[in-house]
Amino acid sequence: MFRRFTDREQSNVTILVDGRPIVAKATDSVAAAMFAAGIAACRTTAVEDRPRGPYCMMGVCFDCLAVVDGIGSRQGCMTRVRDGMVVETQKGRREIGR
Ligand code: FES
Repeated sequence: MFRRFTDREQSNVTILVDGRPIVAKATDSVAAAMFAAGIAACRTTAVEDRPRGPYCMMGVCFDCLAVVDGIGSRQGCMTRVRDGMVVETQKGRREIGR
């Protein structure tokens, strides 16, 4: 469903998503890197625990929330990947202190 532009040279970075190493382009957002790796859901809803994934990719819908480097409710579409970044899918509500 999602393809990268093939005419652009970009360096790679590796991030961990739920413990799984994923190679992303250095200019990817977390959400784009997850889509490119075939991961469509980055969180579950607070009440019914249903999967949700990025929708707008421009910071409006907040369906891309994930835990990034231990901080919950980060917008994956607005957060650029960094080599060694640790991303976890967010389960339900953000925990206080995370
Ligand atoms: S995908 Fe909509 S805010 Fe990130």
